[in-house]
Amino acid sequence: MAFATQLALVRTAVLLLSLRSSGQMPLMPKIHYCVSFWAKNITCYWDLLPETHSPITYTLHITEESGRCRQDFGRPSRCVARWGERSCGVPVENLFAFYKIQLTAESRGVQVRSLEKCIQGMAVVKLSSPMVNALLANQSRCFQLEWSLPGDEVVSVSEAQYEIQYRDVAEKSWAQVNFTAAENGQAFANICGVSPFTNYSVRVRAKYLLSHSLQGDGDPFWSNWSPERYVRTLPAVPSRGPALWRKFGISGADGKRDVILMWKPLKPKEANGEILIYSLFSQRKGESAGPQCLTRELQCTLRLLMGAGYTFSITARNIAGVSPVTSLIVLPSDGQEELSSTFPVLASPATDHSFLLRWSLPHFPAIRYVFEWGRLPRKKGEDVFWHDHSGNTNHMVIAEAIMPGNLYSLKVFVLIHGNVWASGSTSGYSKQTAPLRAPTLYPSQIWKTEVALQWEMLPLEERGGVIRNYTLCYKEEGENERAVILDSSIQRYIIRGLAPASIVHVYLTVATEGGSTRGSVLSVRTKSDEYGKAEVLILAFSVGFLLLFGSLACVYRYRWYVVVSCVFHSRGGQSSISGLQLPKSLRCHGRWLGVADLYRMDFCLPFFFFSYFRPTSRDGREGPRRPAGRTGAAPGGDAGRRSAILRLRAMRRAAPRLPPSPSWPPCLGPGPELVLPPPAAGARILPPGSPRPLRAAYAM
Ligand SMILES: *[C@@H]1O[C@H](CO)[C@@H](O)[C@H](O)[C@H]1NC(C)=O
Ligand SMILES: *[C@@H]1O[C@H](CO)[C@@H](O)[C@H](O)[C@H]1NC(C)=O
Ligand SMILES: *[C@@H]1O[C@H](CO)[C@@H](O)[C@H](O)[C@H]1NC(C)=O
Ligand SMILES: *[C@@H]1O[C@H](CO)[C@@H](O)[C@H](O)[C@H]1NC(C)=O
Ligand SMILES: *[C@@H]1O[C@H](CO)[C@@H](O)[C@H](O)[C@H]1NC(C)=O
Repeated sequence: MAFATQLALVRTAVLLLSLRSSGQMPLMPKIHYCVSFWAKNITCYWDLLPETHSPITYTLHITEESGRCRQDFGRPSRCVARWGERSCGVPVENLFAFYKIQLTAESRGVQVRSLEKCIQGMAVVKLSSPMVNALLANQSRCFQLEWSLPGDEVVSVSEAQYEIQYRDVAEKSWAQVNFTAAENGQAFANICGVSPFTNYSVRVRAKYLLSHSLQGDGDPFWSNWSPERYVRTLPAVPSRGPALWRKFGISGADGKRDVILMWKPLKPKEANGEILIYSLFSQRKGESAGPQCLTRELQCTLRLLMGAGYTFSITARNIAGVSPVTSLIVLPSDGQEELSSTFPVLASPATDHSFLLRWSLPHFPAIRYVFEWGRLPRKKGEDVFWHDHSGNTNHMVIAEAIMPGNLYSLKVFVLIHGNVWASGSTSGYSKQTAPLRAPTLYPSQIWKTEVALQWEMLPLEERGGVIRNYTLCYKEEGENERAVILDSSIQRYIIRGLAPASIVHVYLTVATEGGSTRGSVLSVRTKSDEYGKAEVLILAFSVGFLLLFGSLACVYRYRWYVVVSCVFHSRGGQSSISGLQLPKSLRCHGRWLGVADLYRMDFCLPFFFFSYFRPTSRDGREGPRRPAGRTGAAPGGDAGRRSAILRLRAMRRAAPRLPPSPSWPPCLGPGPELVLPPPAAGARILPPGSPRPLRAAYAM
């Protein structure tokens, strides 16, 4: 016996040494905890010892005892954990008995043992999961459930404690009720304080209640949750009236206008049941209220007198009853917004798809806010979104139908007792994007050494943000490229100092906070010197032609003159024109031209020179002329913009077209300093890539 003990000690020392040799602290196996399953087994859990060179085998030894582990009662049972596993279980029959439990770890014939544990089966029992047998809601705010534990795990309901959990199926978190039954009580609970007309999911779990004599020996485990069961509570009267708002439509010549009354569906927790019908009533001042719409829709269009004020009220009905009333007062004419006082509203982007609105107002009882927003420019038939909030607040996040790159108008209305008391408005972008396109570039005038360029104002919906600046890049053939940064208010620029008859490639980049967009390349040829010579030639020909024409006209004119004088002479018998005494018969039928006639021709020719041959300015050097009604004056006005665009198109048609040069790289690299035109006010000109903007200017 002593020898056997010695041998065991030596073996343990060897195992400990082998563990130490692996660089770890020497360890003994340790049982973490044991769980007993009714009528099945006791399973124990432990942590694995550090790896050694050879695999370690874990064996769990369980022996039924008589009394509190005073003496072995049955034969020891054991289980060997599969490799790498940290638990195993031994079947047992009587969970009310005590068990002696020990874990051994063995490696290459060396064994180490854990301390012995003495556990009563029921002290570590994990009951099977209960079953919900009946679940019923015969009220709107309570439901009842009944459950049981399978088999004979507990004799009485009171031997276990229970947890009941329930949640609205639309939500994540559970509400919990702890339950212990009285002696001879029932596994039945009435759960109250729940919402009407809500689908609840319910589950229960159980834990064995340890008798006093065993407390401290362990802690039983909670069973698994029962399978979930569902119950829908009964409907109740809607808790509030629908949020009501209005939109004004077309006003007619008959003194009436369309008023669209809109309301929001109640939230499920407010509707408390399925809404069967909405009832809208209207009341003119001094008259009794009359029904206007009974509908399941969410709006109702009425044609009402513009000069009259109305009070509208709406209720929602479900199977349980009618909601409280919401009212809205609409003042005569659509001056409602203007009549109320205004307050400042600040809008900032909350995310790329939402706005945070902030304002500051005193607190009022019975206050209601309506938020209204929509895309700008407002288009006919496009939806206006609105949102309702009851109670005092000084901020609101608006997140419905907000897209980056669009300008939104944002309005806040304050309602007290259904009356718009104050309002505030602002506008903004939730996120600016690069413009959808760059404005089209047109040459508006071309000279020998200068080119005037013009571009349109981008329509609001294509801007993507607030236009900060334009960059005009141009490159004359054989020259370096140049860039000009122009203020967003500028829409015209004259490139100077070009060579005659040279091709210049130009493009425009437009920038917002959200990015920039580059337009296509426009190529323009400046006028050549030849052009001027040809004109002089044409001018010379014209002068010659006019001289000829003038003299012919003068001769013809004289002929006519003589005819008239003939008639005079025939009547008066005396010629007062010529001053010469000619035979009467010859006066009208003789030679047409005499000395005096030639004299008259002398008089006539200068006349022609001065009346028909006035010098004209036709070489186009009048200097840059502003096209009438600059496009800059067009923002907002659709008609103005359209005519400006038409004008620009006409200019473009008239301009000489050249194929764009596709090989031209973007205007980015550092270029030479720009030779600046005479300074004036308006534009900054910098060489591309220059970090420091040069102050320069240009008269536009
Ligand atoms: C012990 O019983 C439980 C419950 O039935 C079972 O899940 C587990 O597999 C059993 N363990 C062993 C080792 O038989
Ligand atoms: C609902 O059921 C409970 C329990 O069965 C009962 O006490 C109660 O009277 C019932 N209520 C209604 C409104 O039927
Ligand atoms: C139920 O018991 C749990 C655990 O003991 C406790 O944390 C919880 O607060 C109890 N819930 C109620 C509603 O008493
Ligand atoms: C409650 O919700 C569950 C899960 O979504 C569904 O299976 C069940 O049919 C619903 N019950 C009722 C009464 O609506
Ligand atoms: C042009 O506007 C954009 C966007 O605001 C900005 O990033 C850029 O610096 C501006 N360019 C100049 C030269 O001011």
